[in-house]
Amino acid sequence: MSAFWHWFIVILTIGSILGCLWLIWWAAQKHQTESASGEPVGHVWDDDLSEMDHPMPRWWLWLFYATILFSFAYLLLYPGLGNFPGLLGWTQEGQHAAEVQALEERRDAHLARYADMDVEALAANADAVQAGARIYAHNCAICHGSDARGAPGFPNLADDAWQWGGTPDAVVTSIRDGRTAVMPPLGAATGDDAYAVSAYVYQMGGRTAAHFGAASLARGEEQYQQLCVACHGRDGKGNAALGAPDLTDGAWVYGGTHEAIRASVMQGRMGVMPPHGELLGETRVLLVAAYLLRLNQTE
Ligand code: HEC
Ligand code: HEC
Repeated sequence: MSAFWHWFIVILTIGSILGCLWLIWWAAQKHQTESASGEPVGHVWDDDLSEMDHPMPRWWLWLFYATILFSFAYLLLYPGLGNFPGLLGWTQEGQHAAEVQALEERRDAHLARYADMDVEALAANADAVQAGARIYAHNCAICHGSDARGAPGFPNLADDAWQWGGTPDAVVTSIRDGRTAVMPPLGAATGDDAYAVSAYVYQMGGRTAAHFGAASLARGEEQYQQLCVACHGRDGKGNAALGAPDLTDGAWVYGGTHEAIRASVMQGRMGVMPPHGELLGETRVLLVAAYLLRLNQTE
């Protein structure tokens, strides 16, 4: 704030308060000297309703003086007069920082109980699982759903189909470091055979697919062995190192209809799980992983 506005505010504020002080003092004085108390002032309404002139009650007068005293004390202690910071040194930012720090300390004290435990131990601890559930609700439900059952493009975390592996280590790594899946678009490579290869994939988990025709399925298998085995494996069981999903387990991230499979083949899929290690810190990563593992055990 420039010196001009600083003094503008200081003079205006103090001037107004002193003005109030003078006004009250003056009104009280005037009463004592000019008019005897309880006299009518001469205004009469409705024939007999006349205004009387009583002095302000003493306590009221003192209340006014007290508010003025309070305002000076307040302006002395807290920032209010231009650039003057107040004797207490209080600031909004300081109060906010102190509150945040107090919250973080409480949270850290809470987390410290779990600091030396591994994921299996946490998954067996009811309090830890509950803490994990809260972390999940705040950070993960937005993508994976409040019940962790996912949505198209966001994997179900409550079943035992894992793209990147379901061991405690693999789940922790998925959460801490994130995952980037790369299924290349194969529309050009499969050409007219996208239909056939999708039909072949459709029946891999054991669904009936006679309606696609034997020739289509044979052609699809040929294409599959050529284009897809490198990632999804000969038997379609997937590859956790690449995040290539098991195509036989009936769990689909992007949908298991023939059309959805064909869309996966034509357009490719690039699911990204953002890394959460820095955001959450190690202990909270382990807690939320423990929550997921517990969900899996109870499903
Ligand atoms: C370079 C490795 C790679 C190749 C080659 C590959 N895929 Fe994939 N595929 C993946 C990955 C990784 C994903 C997971 C994508 C994601 O999660 O976003 C995936 C996902 C899929 C899905 C979606 C599964 C679901 O749960 O919704 C289907 C269907 C699929 N692939 C079929 C195929 C077929 C058919 C071929 C061959 C024509 C093929 N893929 C070739 C790596 C590959
Ligand atoms: C912005 C959306 C988003 C958020 C937020 C998010 N995820 Fe994910 N997550 C994904 C996507 C998309 C994938 C699938 C990546 C792929 O295609 O391989 C995934 C994959 C995963 C996997 C691997 C699943 C498997 O089958 O191997 C785990 C575990 C996981 N997320 C846990 C979490 C947890 C725990 C949180 C909260 C701390 C979280 N995610 C927050 C989008 C998200």
